[in-house]
Amino acid sequence: SDPDLVARARAAKAALGDKVFVLGHHYQRNEVIEFADVTGDSFKLAKEAAARPDAPWIVFCGVHFMAESADILTSDEQTVILPDLAAGCSMADMAAIAQVEDCWEQLVEAGVADQVVPVTYMNSSAAIKAFTGRHGGTVCTSSNAKTALTWALDEKGGVDGKGKVLFLPDQHLGRNTWARDLGGSLEDCVVWDPHRPMGGLTVEELQAARMILWRGHCSVHGRFSVEAVEAARAEIPDVKVIVHPECRHEVVELADEVGSTEKIIKTIAAAPDGTAWAVGTELNLVQRLAQEFPKQRIAFLEKNVCYCSTMNRIDLPHLVWALESLVEGRVVNPIRVDEQVAADARRALDQMLALPG
Ligand code: 13P
Ligand code: SF4
Repeated sequence: SDPDLVARARAAKAALGDKVFVLGHHYQRNEVIEFADVTGDSFKLAKEAAARPDAPWIVFCGVHFMAESADILTSDEQTVILPDLAAGCSMADMAAIAQVEDCWEQLVEAGVADQVVPVTYMNSSAAIKAFTGRHGGTVCTSSNAKTALTWALDEKGGVDGKGKVLFLPDQHLGRNTWARDLGGSLEDCVVWDPHRPMGGLTVEELQAARMILWRGHCSVHGRFSVEAVEAARAEIPDVKVIVHPECRHEVVELADEVGSTEKIIKTIAAAPDGTAWAVGTELNLVQRLAQEFPKQRIAFLEKNVCYCSTMNRIDLPHLVWALESLVEGRVVNPIRVDEQVAADARRALDQMLALPG
């Protein structure tokens, strides 16, 4: 990266001292990660943001929904800054609040709503988290989806009971957690398509289902294929395939290990030297893993999958701009969630933070 920008980022951070706290998601560019005070998956970063009450400014190097969650979990005196407001998430955009409210009304009309607990993936707007809080549900991340689902089903009689989960907005994480982690049957899953009347489902299908999966997906992880897993196994002797649970179910079924970004890093860090890996997650992280663990053989699972373009929006020029503005007394790109939305969303986020483990 540009040495001038590196020097400016260093100088601005030094001038701000403890007043600024920089969080970096594992999918961020190296040039940005270099300036992060802490790196992590979405769960760890949400906890870290909440644990820094003394920093008036939290610069969030990640995407919009993460910055919103950090704003909800921090105090009114603190400001969360997203260095580029265009850093969104295509999956989060797949569930609009009007569509979700409409879905709930139809679940009420179908007579199933009182059996349903919403479980909402962190990768969603604050408005969807607020909906979740209003209906007694919880937020989850890829590192606690199993615990969150178990908790939600326990609210309605346990995994073997009659309760149902409305899982928003990632159908793959919902399906994978149900089928792989809880041993549930794929036949118990239905997909709610927000663009079709009644989600494209019949009342009978809704009554029989245990998992009502919102039709959303990650445009990056959705591209990892069964063929890529098979090719890695054919080409790399003794390879271990490790993927993120946002990958399609067929891919997750074939993998050796499945986990959040933090779990992927920890699993690889704990493996003996010489282990061969094919990693199915965002490319910035895979490249960093290859650099950090040169004694292991780390390959990207699918050659034609690219970076998460919105994560990549945060680059060193944007970070320098956000930091230097603070030095000059200006706050750029603050993320402020509406108070009522924040209050409802906080219930669902606090429920997640209160889950065991
Ligand atoms: P993690 O919670 O595993 O960090 O994942 C966040 C994300 O956006 C994955 O696409
Ligand atoms: Fe969203 Fe996928 Fe990018 Fe994660 S990797 S921020 S889920 S688009």
